[in-house]
Amino acid sequence: MNQPDLGALYSHHASVMRQRADEALARGGFDHLVIPSGTQHYQAFDDRDYPYAVNPNFKAWLPLTKLPNSWLVYTPGKRPTLIFHQPFDYWHVVPDAPNGWWVEHVDIQIIRTPDEALALLPKDAARCAILGEPQSALGAFVPNNPAPVIDYLDWQRGYKTPYEIALMREAQRLGVRGHRAAEAAFRGGASEFEIHMAYCRAVGQDANELPYGNIIGLNEHAAVLHYTDLGRSAPTPLRSFLIDAGASAYGYASDITRTYAASGHDEFQALIDAVDAAQQQMGAAVRAGVDYKQLHIDAHLSLMGILKDVGVLNVSPEAALATGVSAAFFPHGLGHLIGLQVHDVAGFAASDRGGRIERPQGHPYLRMTRVLEPGMVVTIEPGVYFIDMLLDEVKQAGNGASINWDRVDFFRPYGGVRIEDEVLCTEGDADNLTRPVFAAAS
Ligand code: GLY
Ligand code: MN
Ligand code: MN
Repeated sequence: MNQPDLGALYSHHASVMRQRADEALARGGFDHLVIPSGTQHYQAFDDRDYPYAVNPNFKAWLPLTKLPNSWLVYTPGKRPTLIFHQPFDYWHVVPDAPNGWWVEHVDIQIIRTPDEALALLPKDAARCAILGEPQSALGAFVPNNPAPVIDYLDWQRGYKTPYEIALMREAQRLGVRGHRAAEAAFRGGASEFEIHMAYCRAVGQDANELPYGNIIGLNEHAAVLHYTDLGRSAPTPLRSFLIDAGASAYGYASDITRTYAASGHDEFQALIDAVDAAQQQMGAAVRAGVDYKQLHIDAHLSLMGILKDVGVLNVSPEAALATGVSAAFFPHGLGHLIGLQVHDVAGFAASDRGGRIERPQGHPYLRMTRVLEPGMVVTIEPGVYFIDMLLDEVKQAGNGASINWDRVDFFRPYGGVRIEDEVLCTEGDADNLTRPVFAAAS
């Protein structure tokens, strides 16, 4: 893959960020945008800190994810200022002196203690839109998170700039590297914990740097949607492996899921293959003007068609959807916006002035209800699982006859199947960010 010119891409990105901020400030009636990077959080009754998580509004401007007690200040018509906290500290690693493709676009002021920021922030805090968590307050600079400003900026974050897409492609490259190593570890008989370690080593990121906790489930554990226990010994026999794991690139996330069958488990492999083929079709359906809610409903029908084909369902996909039986097998949403956050903001936004598009009834976990537009990146992550708690509810609701329970018994030891890619909506065909990276890595 050609290396993108991040300097040129960032120059464009920075101009887009300034334009967005100009409009957001005008809407809110403010003169300055002020964004604290955030501070350390400490455990109760202890001096241990939690892993630092940068304010996403801060990393939207700058590829800096490890810079607590710093501030971004933007005043329309001026270059942004970065108040860069670089303490004199011999206990911790001090952030490197600013460098990289972004430095020429900002005025940088180094501070040695957090309080020194006060002298560099705008004169009148009341004229500032301050985006951050309460704990970031410094003097009069208490985050106010004005709704007109947040609504506009969150909405705009749905449209990725070419710079952001380049970094998201890098997050794909790193994540796929980990997925390849994880599959090899599984084939070698590794435990969940060992697979996790192989993944982290290949990506070059530890658990605190990854965009979310790795979901690595062998056998029945694949049925636990957010299984993060990481068993220390491999079960015998090994039947199946589900891994939902991403990587971070300059603050941007990938979120990728694959499912594998141990050799000789041909029926489960056939189920994986069918979900995989359907998932690719769902990804190809990502087009401008398409309602994501409809993609989610279509995914229910497609997955129930597969379960009918493999003998799990006795009724039509339409009947399974109407009675809620489909939600027992596919109990989460088709996917979500992704970018600076794995579950990125504004998935339900009705407009850049607020409002909310509700989920369809009976689909309480869908995280994206908007119509797709060019520049949006969504995950497409259909899955089918064999979860006793949900299947019991089907029985209790009087729909037990919809299901062939012998086939459920057959598939239960495999847990389930989920396949997840990131897909960029363009003016034309869908651009699957994940698949070509797997293809290039094989
Ligand atoms: N890894 C969390 C998700 O897929 O949404
Ligand atoms: Mn995922
Ligand atoms: Mn996801």
